[in-house]
Amino acid sequence: MADFKGYLVILLLGVISTSLLTGKRCISEGEDGGVIRRMLNDITEVMGTFNLSDHIWFFKNLDVQGVKKRSKEIRARFDSLIEKIIKEHEEVRKEIKKKGEVKDLLDNLLDISENEGTEIKLAGEHIKAFFLLDIMGGATQSPSISTEWALAELINHPNIMKKAVEEIDQVVGKNRLLQEADIPNLPHLQAIVKESLRLHPPGPMIIRQSSVDCTVGGYQIPAKTTIFFNVWSLGRDPNYWESPLEFRPERFDEKQMDVRGQNFQFLPFGSGRRMCPGISLALMVLHVTLGSIIQCFEWKAGWDGNLTSVDMEEGTGITLPRANPLVCIPVARIDPVPLCM
Ligand code: HEM
Repeated sequence: MADFKGYLVILLLGVISTSLLTGKRCISEGEDGGVIRRMLNDITEVMGTFNLSDHIWFFKNLDVQGVKKRSKEIRARFDSLIEKIIKEHEEVRKEIKKKGEVKDLLDNLLDISENEGTEIKLAGEHIKAFFLLDIMGGATQSPSISTEWALAELINHPNIMKKAVEEIDQVVGKNRLLQEADIPNLPHLQAIVKESLRLHPPGPMIIRQSSVDCTVGGYQIPAKTTIFFNVWSLGRDPNYWESPLEFRPERFDEKQMDVRGQNFQFLPFGSGRRMCPGISLALMVLHVTLGSIIQCFEWKAGWDGNLTSVDMEEGTGITLPRANPLVCIPVARIDPVPLCM
């Protein structure tokens, strides 16, 4: 076994998603990766704030909590960042076109915006909006937060971690990395991902507006009412879940329950026409990332690697992040050399 030690504060998927979106890998805090991560944290925090001005008529034109001011400041930061990324992109695009290299999402959006013949006209502002909320927010924050919670749960439940690692060793072995095609053969890993999404849904609140007057559970709901569905509390409701606060992935072996919005006590990706469109990518990324990091490393909790458990305090924000980042030391458990060849 290669003896490899290092400190790692889990900031996982920012790296992967930034690469998918902009073709760029940002590893260190000093690069755009750190800037993007901080900005996304700010966005989700401000979006998760209950803004009195949105809900109480009297406060409509007052920015009592400073949410509007903060939103404008974040938007200005985002604007300058995305403009920088777009500019960098434009400089290398001609080369990419010549070589016929694989494009990233931003390249495709820029192609569409430059094409006079398209039915839908895409302007710079649309690219920014699409990039900011729909893709950067949805595609980076949720999977990275979910992976962090799942790993924290595994660190706190060594028996479940042991079973997951044994399953991966048996199905994948130690000479290659876990891949997407392995996921159907890893039922315990799948159950871990579901159980973690049940307790820590990165979309804890789903929002809808009623289109017509209706009655639900005896309550009359007028048309155009904003309705909040509390996914977090549904996942912890003792009427539907036995010992709801316990992390017990095997409950999903007993109950064959999927995550695609058909079981209303378990809606990590929402439900209906507005449910998460990134669900397939998200599930693939979650299983492959979590599976690979426990396949390749043993995780020792704390800066000195001497903690037996980690705290599970929730922070603020619309994506339900951890209050404190997960800090642990990865110790390599397989020889990385064959994997790199
Ligand atoms: C762990 C991963 C993820 C979780 C748990 C998650 C969860 C959710 C939830 C709960 C919603 C609201 C659904 C509703 O209102 O019914 C949502 C919306 C959305 N998600 Fe995800 N998501 C994840 C990953 C992704 C990824 C990877 C992408 C993009 C590639 C993505 C793109 C979106 C978009 C664009 C929306 C807005 C859809 C709309 O308003 O019509 N999500 N997601």
